[in-house]
Amino acid sequence: MSAWSEAARARGESIALVPTMGALHAGHLSLLAEGRRCAQKLVLSIFVNPMQFGPHEDLAKYPRDLPGDLAKAASVGCDMAFVPEATSVYGHGFQTAIDVREVSQGLCGARRPGHFAGVATVVCKFFNIVRPHSALFGEKDFQQLAVIRRMVTDLNLPVEVVGLPTVREPDGLAMSSRNVYLSPSDRQRAKALHAGLSAAKALVEKGELRASVLLDAAMAEIAARVDRIDYLEVRAADDLKPLDLIDRPAVMLVAAFVGGTRLIDNLRLG
Ligand code: PAJ
Repeated sequence: MSAWSEAARARGESIALVPTMGALHAGHLSLLAEGRRCAQKLVLSIFVNPMQFGPHEDLAKYPRDLPGDLAKAASVGCDMAFVPEATSVYGHGFQTAIDVREVSQGLCGARRPGHFAGVATVVCKFFNIVRPHSALFGEKDFQQLAVIRRMVTDLNLPVEVVGLPTVREPDGLAMSSRNVYLSPSDRQRAKALHAGLSAAKALVEKGELRASVLLDAAMAEIAARVDRIDYLEVRAADDLKPLDLIDRPAVMLVAAFVGGTRLIDNLRLG
């Protein structure tokens, strides 16, 4: 992979990287399409990263479809798929982790200890292996994007991070590789996440700025239809600090279980 990138760089070509865990859907394809536009060479990585999964999470059953993914990647004009084995990513004696301290706290970081260290470490490794000029990520994983932006700034990584909007199903459900876990009735209930966030956003558009009122409105939609809420919070969009009042760009973020499936979503408010 590195030799291929070095050769492209030597020819003066720009490289965009889209890191994924595979089971590609339209959200991933929107990142690839934008990568195709912004660089001469487009690299897709597919790696179900063990370091970002907790001991009781879905690493073993995470959906995998390499032939399907490669066909989709080719159809959007990808130049290279980087699909390493875990043993080559994490060689014997591996012991380093990147801890993006504050942005990783709370939200998914509170429920998934070590998750963002796993994400930051593998993304940094892939930046070093692939040497991209730019890398594209989805706002669907809003906290992850904030963690990566902070890491790139703090460690002076020479990569431009591009964040792109969440791609949704027609009924509002954010596309996710994990949506395949949902039974037909759970799939119906899963609409509640986006419905709740949208209810809060509609209130902001009418002038409501108190986070507590917005959270109540979202909670009314979500709590009745999901099985358990991990978190529902209003945070500042740039540094993810908690907000009581929407006096700067804000985002409402939710994580909830529908059946056995943990779903996340978020929406910018104002
Ligand atoms: P994965 O969940 O496969 O997502 C890969 C990229 O696709 C991430 O940047 C994610 O935010 C984006 N994405 C997922 N669903 C999306 C949607 N509905 N709309 C727009 N973008 C979407 O996120 C990971 O993998 C991993 O943590 C990774 C960054 C690859 C590190 O292992």
